[in-house]
Amino acid sequence: MRRRIVAGNWKMNGSRDLSEELVGYVRSEAGSLDNGVEVVIIPPAIYIGNVLDQAQGVVSVGVQNVGQWQSGAYTGEVSPEMAKDAGCRYVLVGHSERRQIFGETDELVAEKVSLVVSSGLVAIVCVGETLEERESGQAESVVAHQVRSGLAFVPKGQWHNVVVAYEPVWAIGTGKTATAGDAQDMHSAIRGVLKDMGAPAEEISLLYGGSVKADNAAALFSEPDIDGGLIGGASLVAKEFMSICRSFPAAT
Ligand code: 13P
Repeated sequence: MRRRIVAGNWKMNGSRDLSEELVGYVRSEAGSLDNGVEVVIIPPAIYIGNVLDQAQGVVSVGVQNVGQWQSGAYTGEVSPEMAKDAGCRYVLVGHSERRQIFGETDELVAEKVSLVVSSGLVAIVCVGETLEERESGQAESVVAHQVRSGLAFVPKGQWHNVVVAYEPVWAIGTGKTATAGDAQDMHSAIRGVLKDMGAPAEEISLLYGGSVKADNAAALFSEPDIDGGLIGGASLVAKEFMSICRSFPAAT
């Protein structure tokens, strides 16, 4: 079912103290949200246990990456089954930092997505164009290709375990955000691609990410095809993160 989701991707930031203080605060506030937003925290894997202790089922928890296998001699990797066993509900797949810094390809993203959704976890599949691609008019075709290839192996009955996050690379950590109108246009195009693929497009949550802050979230979240946000820097500041979660109007 299409849900409102605000997820905080801590990237390689955080500590035991942040896990206690920030997640404790978010938990105490999230219980009283009246807008139906599901709040998700995605810390570095080593702090999953600390975050889960504080989340107490009120806040959902995810991992930032998984390997493409379920177990074995893959030093340094964590599998979807392990993430699930630990208590996670979400897995980020194909974040642009994984694609650009760690060389993750569309094929690898597709393999991971298939394993994640088949494990019963929700894959938040990240897509987005670079500045050069946007400036040369290719943004929509690049994103459409990432959606088609990244979701190529989703089994028919598993679309409820898929969320797509549109994160234009040029907007990540730069303070530049897409206008609400441009983000809406891309979300609508993504929904069109999902429909073409035979997915239940209207049921799939589409998140926007890239310099989302308390002062621009409400405009983004008022667009019809933007179902939430994937927040980087602002998710490390408890009050700012909660104020983003409150930026949706009350549920009708
Ligand atoms: P910022 O919100 O820091 O731009 O990061 C966005 C992001 O990459 C979330 O995954």
